Amino acid sequence: MQRKGAADKVPAQRITAIYPGSFDPITNGHLDLIERGSKIFDELIVAVLRNPEKDPLFSVEERVEMLNEVTQHCANVSVDTFDGLLVDYAVRNRARVILRGVRAISDFENELQMALMNRKLDPNLETVFMMPAVAYTFLSSHLVREVCKLGGDVRSLVPPLVEARLRAKAVSL
Ligand code: PNS
Repeated sequence: MQRKGAADKVPAQRITAIYPGSFDPITNGHLDLIERGSKIFDELIVAVLRNPEKDPLFSVEERVEMLNEVTQHCANVSVDTFDGLLVDYAVRNRARVILRGVRAISDFENELQMALMNRKLDPNLETVFMMPAVAYTFLSSHLVREVCKLGGDVRSLVPPLVEARLRAKAVSL
């Protein structure tokens, strides 16, 4: 018996996913998730939120530049910015999936809230959660900024380019 959906059935639909976030700055945990996502989705758009309310360390342009550099090896990954509702951005880009990373149970409550709100706003959009490598489960941009500001070593936490940019910022702060 032939399995439903197998062989000469309708061609599979291409799936575009959006990985939204602040990425201030991108960490090895983000990069790990981007690489995992790029393997299962046809196209992955890393979308940096333009958020005038936050006081970021890196400008949106700097973050986009760093993201572009460190994702060069992923052919199906592109980097963009968005403002307004994420669901509207997803519709404009014909994306069917929002990709988010969950590091620990503590992430889950907030992520669940966001996923359910996005589903309420657009029931056609699915949020897919992925776990980063265990080595990155404690890692966040916030902690990287803090450790770097206080003179700690962040070499194993962020890509080399980002570490250099962080050091340059720390010197000029
Ligand atoms: O890296 P972050 O700061 O955890 O990312 C949060 C982000 C950008 C995914 C979230 O704030 C977002 O989607 N903002 C867009 C505004 C929006 O759509 N809000 C309603 C649904 S939660």
